[in-house]
Formats: sequence, structure tokens, C-alpha cells
Amino acid sequence: MSLLENRTALVVGGASGIGQAIASAFVKEGARVVVADRAESAAFDSVPIDVTDEDSVVAAVAAATGRLGEIDVLVNSAGILTESPLTEMSLETWSQTLAVDLTGVFLCCRHVVPRMVERGQGRVINIASQLGIKGGHGLAHYAAAKAGVIGLTKSLALEVSGRGVLVNAIAPGPIETPMVEGITEDWKAAKRAELPLGRFGRPEEVAPTAVLLASDPGGNLYCGQTLGPNSGDVMP
Ligand SMILES: NC(=O)c1ccc[n+]([C@@H]2O[C@H](COP(=O)([O-])OP(=O)(O)OC[C@H]3O[C@@H](n4cnc5c(N)ncnc54)[C@H](O)[C@@H]3O)[C@@H](O)[C@H]2O)c1
Repeated sequence: MSLLENRTALVVGGASGIGQAIASAFVKEGARVVVADRAESAAFDSVPIDVTDEDSVVAAVAAATGRLGEIDVLVNSAGILTESPLTEMSLETWSQTLAVDLTGVFLCCRHVVPRMVERGQGRVINIASQLGIKGGHGLAHYAAAKAGVIGLTKSLALEVSGRGVLVNAIAPGPIETPMVEGITEDWKAAKRAELPLGRFGRPEEVAPTAVLLASDPGGNLYCGQTLGPNSGDVMP
């Protein structure tokens, strides 16, 4: 029996990178998956979404629910990354990152979790980052958003775990995806040198942690946790 047989999942940000790898792993484990992304996904049944726009989130959740019947698992993986020292950062850069990386997670949880609570079952997996724990040069906006995701995850877990909905986060270390392609080679080399494993991860190496959190009994005791497939970058 596959680990996610008879489960449905909405993977927000599933058209690329970590979200795409999670969607693939879920399908491989027997789940029915809809991907929601601002980019089109050729690989999956998909619906358009802009996670910064509440109307768009409501419409995407309705469309996904129409296709899946119910949403058993919500993965929030949509995100953006830019670099700027805080002392030079514009309010627009700050606000845009917070809108996608933190408010987007709030909006998707806000419009999916109430039905999970009504049904007395559900799993939410928010993709944070190890930078939300340790911070990063030129990444105050991103690190603040990801620290916010970890705080949101713990708080929502406290609110809904007694009603059958388990909420957790994954805080990956640096992973080879389109998101890090734009980062300078110097930064990447310095980062690699810091990592106990000496290398960035691959999206396929993060996805099994999401499968674990979504599965029964593997994920049953995780509540408000932040799991760290991070090449040893952070050891809480
Ligand atoms: N790659 C890394 O090193 C790394 C490390 C830690 C955490 N993360 C986090 O993992 C998640 C996935 O990142 P990735 O590395 O796979 O990057 P990615 O760029 O490959 O994927 C991000 C996805 O989010 C979507 N997206 C962006 N803005 C959106 C919006 N407003 N509405 C809807 N969709 C939107 C993009 O279209 C894309 O498909 C992000 O939350 C990121 O912050 C990445």
C-alpha cells in the first residue's frame, strides 16, 4: 500500500522546485494532487493562483476542491527570494517578499483550514527556510518572512491540532532550484563551505520529509514542528 493512497493534496507553488518535487512524490505515493501556482504546470492538474491576492486564493481553493472533492493535505511552497542589504532595501522590496512568503501562507491556510477543521482531519505543511532560524546577509526581508512562517505554523498548530488538523513546517537548507539560480557564484561557494555536508540539496531530497508529514502513521505525532533537511546548516 502506498503511503498517501486515497489522500488528496493541494500543492501551492507546485509548478517548480521543491513544490514540484513534493507534488511528484505525493503522486508516486498514490495521492491525487492539484498544483496551484502563478506559473502554469505542464506536469500536473493545475489551477492559477496569486497567493498575494485573497480573491485569487479563494478562487483557486474552490477550483481545487471542485476537482479533488476535499483537500486532505495543503502544502505551501510558493515563494520568492531577492537580495538587498537592509540599509538599502526599499519598502516595496520588503513588502513584496512579506506578501508572497508570509501573507501568502496565511491566505492559503485561512481558506483551506476551516474546512479541514469541519471535517476533523487535515495536514498542513508550510515551507519555511533555515534562514528563518539563523538569518542571512542581505536577506532580512526573506528571513523575517520565513521566521514568520515558523511562528504562524506553531500558532495554527496550537489552534487546530485538537480538532484533527496537524500543522508543521519544513525549513530546508540551500536547495538547487530555479530560486537560487540567480544568486552569485561567490555567495554559493561561501555557503557550500559553511555546510557540514559541503553541498546544496536537491528538491527530491526535501520531498520525502513532506511525504512523512502527510502520511499515517509517520506524520501522526508531528505538531507545530519545523523539520530541517538542511545539509547541517542549522542544528536546533
Ligand atoms: N531553494 C532553496 O534553497 C530554498 C531553501 C529554503 C526554503 N525554500 C523555500 O521553498 C519554497 C519553494 O522554493 P523553490 O526553491 O522551489 O523555488 P522555485 O522558484 O523553484 O518555486 C517557487 C514557486 O512559487 C511560485 N510563486 C512565486 N510567487 C507566487 C505567487 N505570488 N503566487 C503563486 N505562486 C507563486 C513560482 O511560480 C514557483 O513555481 C519557497 O517558499 C522558498 O522560499 C527554498
